[in-house]
Parts: sequence; C-alpha cells; structure tokens
Amino acid sequence: MGDRLYIGIDLGTFQSTIASSAGGLDTMETVVGKPKDPVARNFLGRDVLFGADALKNKLACNLFRPMAAGVAQDDEANLAAAKAFVTHLIDTVDPEEYDEVFGVICSPSHITFTDKSNLVATLRGQVNAIMVVSVPFATAFGLDEIGGSIVVDIGAGTTDIARIYGTFPSEDDEDTLSHAGDWIDEQLMDLIEKKYTGAQLTKDMTRGMKEKYSYVGDEDRECMVELSVEGKKQIVDIGDLVRESCEAAMPYIVSGIKAVVATADPEYQPILRNNIIISGGGSLIDGVAGRIADELSDIGDVNVWCCDDPITQVATGALKLAEVMPDEQYTSIN
Ligand SMILES: Nc1ncnc2c1ncn2[C@@H]1O[C@H](COP(=O)(O)OP(=O)(O)OP(=O)(O)O)[C@@H](O)[C@H]1O
Ligand SMILES: [Mg+2]
Repeated sequence: MGDRLYIGIDLGTFQSTIASSAGGLDTMETVVGKPKDPVARNFLGRDVLFGADALKNKLACNLFRPMAAGVAQDDEANLAAAKAFVTHLIDTVDPEEYDEVFGVICSPSHITFTDKSNLVATLRGQVNAIMVVSVPFATAFGLDEIGGSIVVDIGAGTTDIARIYGTFPSEDDEDTLSHAGDWIDEQLMDLIEKKYTGAQLTKDMTRGMKEKYSYVGDEDRECMVELSVEGKKQIVDIGDLVRESCEAAMPYIVSGIKAVVATADPEYQPILRNNIIISGGGSLIDGVAGRIADELSDIGDVNVWCCDDPITQVATGALKLAEVMPDEQYTSIN
C-alpha cells in the first residue's frame, strides 16, 4: 500500500492546483503555449510551454486556455492542450516513483457529461483510478464542513454555489452562475475604456488591476494605475470603477445563495444560513463576506465567512477525500 500515491486536482478555468499525499502542492495558470513557427521553436528550445513559462513567451507562442468557458471540448487542438497540461501538472508530483496513482479530480462545472469522457481520456495512462467531485464539495470536505454549509466558490469562469449536508451533493443542490472573476474583469475593462477614451488595455492588465485593488463597500477608495492612452502614459484613479465592477456581481451571487437556501429542506435552512463559506479567488475581494451577509440579512440570521488559502483549498480538500475514500468509490481507468 505504501506504493500508492494519492492526488487531488483542481482543474480551474484560470488556474489549476495539484496536491499529493507525498506533500507536493503546486498551482499554475491553466495555459499552454505552442511555438508559433520553427523560428520560435528553435528560439524557445521546447515544443510546449506551460503556465507562467507560456505567458512569459506569449508573443512567440499560440496560447491555449483549454479549460476556459466557451472552449468546445471536442476541439482537437484544445483537447491536446488539455492532455499536455494535465500530464505536466501530474508530473510535478513525481508519479513515476509509485506503483499506482489514485486521484480525486474537480473540473469546471461547465464540463458536461459527454466532456467527462474527455477528462477520463486525458487522465488515462497517468492515473490508475479516479473520482470526479464538484468544487464546492471538495472545499467543504477539506474544511470539515460537510455537516451543513453552503459553499460559494467565486472562480474565474463561474461562481458555483452548493448546499452540503453530509453527503455528495446532487445536481439539484448546486447552481452555477457566469458572474465571477472574468465577468468582473469585463465590466472593469468596459468602464475604464468608457471613462478614458483611447485607453489601451488587455484582459491580463485589467485582471492585474482588479487583483491589486478589488473591494466592495459603500465608499470609493483611491486606486491609482498607469494607463497607456493612445500610446501616452497617464496616471489615473480607477477606485470608483473597481468598486462598481466588483459590486455589480454581488446581486447575482446573493440571489443565487437565496435560491439555494429557499429550495433546501426547511429544517436545514437555519443551519445552512449560519454557515455560508466563500471560496475561490473571488473571496479575496476585500469586504466580500460582509457585503454578502448584509444583503442576506432579510432572510434571517446569517454567518458568512471566507476560507483560508482559497487558491489551494479545492485541491487539498480533494486530496483529503482521496485518502479516505474506499477503493470501490473510484473508477478504474487503466
Ligand atoms: N485579490 C483578488 N481580488 C479579486 N479577485 C481575485 C483576486 N485574486 C485572484 N482573483 C480572481 O480569482 C479568479 C481566479 O480564482 P480561482 O483560482 O478560484 O479560479 P479558477 O478555479 O481558475 O476558475 P473556475 O473555478 O471558474 O474554474 C480570477 O478571476 C482572479 O482574477
Ligand atoms: Mg475553481
């Protein structure tokens, strides 16, 4: 038995994390770069690049984000990129030193049933047996909160909301919204471009500004950024726009939570209302738990909190689950 490695994998639309029973923990952006032409291939000295390495060399590469929302899962180039990415992610925890690898995998909620067979194809040859669980369930399991909680995972592509009461949630227990990190970035980019005509922004620049300054609340804060406006440097305050774009997502998330509470068994509703856990990168928006709690106060007493280590929580929860599940729970994919 000592020769079995357990792994937990969080495949995210923006970034992915792997945790292993040997103590490995690694997060990288879910991005794959293929050199654009033979010159680029020669200059880079490798056929495929991953995560930060791919981004650093993005001008010499065709970039793939194989888990992003809207990527067709039957698109061959993306499927190949997904497989290469997952192989690379698993390689970081040295699986070849073990006789077998058992993994619990969390995949983005837009990966539908037919796509799950792609997921299996992607993992075949690297993992002997897998179990696929939802992101909110892995989070709750890792936090020892499966007894009664609502997990609200604000990721990049989606916000996944689920009620958890002691067992695996069914589809009825979960809801997925497209109001998450990428959506906030789009709002912010629109607002900046409207206010500063000619501002030259990329999605990555906008995301960086949001991550540095994100907040919700009643008062505008000062957030000074450097913009290129028609090639000319300008230092401007985008504090009001950061607040507006983060605030814009709140009503959708709050109504999502209300719906998940309202359709629960009425005897459980007070327990669920009292343990609402915010996770995912969006939980790093300053003030988000308090803001959501205020908006929920009309449904009774609520307790809303943000989990620690939101970026690695899903993978460490998946690993914890992997280590305690009996073998019958796994599907062999040899
Ligand atoms: N300090 C921050 N403030 C606001 N948003 C942040 C912050 N740090 C990271 N984020 C956002 O969190 C998102 C990434 O979070 P996470 O890693 O949970 O997503 P993911 O798992 O890749 O996506 P998904 O769960 O939708 O598949 C990005 O949109 C990122 O910009
Ligand atoms: Mg995620």
